[in-house]
Amino acid sequence: MQSDTLLISPDDLILITGAAGFIGSRLVENLLDGGYRNLRCFARPSSAGGRIEALSDLHRDRARIEVFKGNLLSPEDCAAATKDVAVIFHLAAARGEKSFPDAFMNSVVTTRNLLEASLLHGCLLRFVNVSSFVVYTNMQKPTWRLLDESCPIEKHPAQRGDAYCFAKVKQEEIVTEYGKKFGLPYVIVRPGYVYGPGNEGITGRVGIGTFGVFLHLGGSNRVPFTYVDNCADAIALAGLKQGVDGEVFNVVDDNLPSSRQFLRLYKRSVERFRSIYVPHALSYGLCYLWELYSKWSEGQLEPTFNRRIWHSYWKKSRYSNAKIKMRLGWMQKVATQDGFRRYFEACRRRVQSA
Ligand SMILES: NC(=O)c1ccc[n+]([C@@H]2O[C@H](COP(=O)([O-])OP(=O)(O)OC[C@H]3O[C@@H](n4cnc5c(N)ncnc54)[C@H](OP(=O)(O)O)[C@@H]3O)[C@@H](O)[C@H]2O)c1
Repeated sequence: MQSDTLLISPDDLILITGAAGFIGSRLVENLLDGGYRNLRCFARPSSAGGRIEALSDLHRDRARIEVFKGNLLSPEDCAAATKDVAVIFHLAAARGEKSFPDAFMNSVVTTRNLLEASLLHGCLLRFVNVSSFVVYTNMQKPTWRLLDESCPIEKHPAQRGDAYCFAKVKQEEIVTEYGKKFGLPYVIVRPGYVYGPGNEGITGRVGIGTFGVFLHLGGSNRVPFTYVDNCADAIALAGLKQGVDGEVFNVVDDNLPSSRQFLRLYKRSVERFRSIYVPHALSYGLCYLWELYSKWSEGQLEPTFNRRIWHSYWKKSRYSNAKIKMRLGWMQKVATQDGFRRYFEACRRRVQSA
């Protein structure tokens, strides 16, 4: 990266929230490899599986890596963590959370606390909010249309029946509000599905395992995969490049496999299991029936499946990464083929150790 296009110098203080997480830990490595020497890594003391120890063990020549143990729900922790910080990479979020209140607390209230604390100190040059493709609605979009940053956001996220989507939409809203009201400089990054060692599950965009059989729902859809190191690279660029305040960037790799191709590769490379393909018209009909019954039964059946989910997850779409390439100069460093090889190896290890 050319240094005259950079927002900060290698010694400026950078805060990474969610630093012990799947993507956050790779972002920390990416920044260190890029020569950034002053990192504050925010992690919850309860972070599982030796992740904090792994952060504490990181070393690079002349780098200062501070592990800040705290909780973003605490305004005091946020105030202490944001002191003297030039760039915040905000990755902490409630992922896989089913409860709306918990998702809201750990993705929205936490973000608000962090934004408030940043305003207090007045030294922040960029707040990078890591959002997600889940915020997009594909409802009004024709089949196979290109999904890019100009596509509309879910207007009724509560009706999606997905706490994660609800929280990510609200999180983006609060970040843009602080940008407008208080002039807080921000960039939003929206990754597709981030895969790699450390996240070995099969995305729901491909299908759902239920009652001992895997329902394959994706079919010929492309899956918006991005390999974890490619994604970390994109997030780093979004925080470091000058002149992109207020912009939104999708992150998705090139040469995406279809859901069917992915599933075939997975079965060949990791493990065999039974799957049944559910054609798009049928999955749409089932989602609609589920939605109707859930309404009719006044919530007796959770609205887990509905037409909004179907449009977002299983409708045929194409995805664009043109903007991030053009404005940030992002390039996919780990080829899709290599990414899948590493991912399948990790999946195999997990299956063998189970
Ligand atoms: N993985 C994907 O496919 C994907 C796709 C699109 C967008 N994203 C976004 O990318 C970001 C990182 O995701 P990830 O996959 O790396 O998730 P992850 O591994 O679950 O990491 C999230 C981290 O946030 C931390 N956290 C949650 N609540 C917190 C709180 N109250 N205070 C402090 N830390 C808190 C968690 O701490 P603990 O370790 O203590 O639980 C966890 O380490 C998220 O914003 C997510 O929405 C992910």
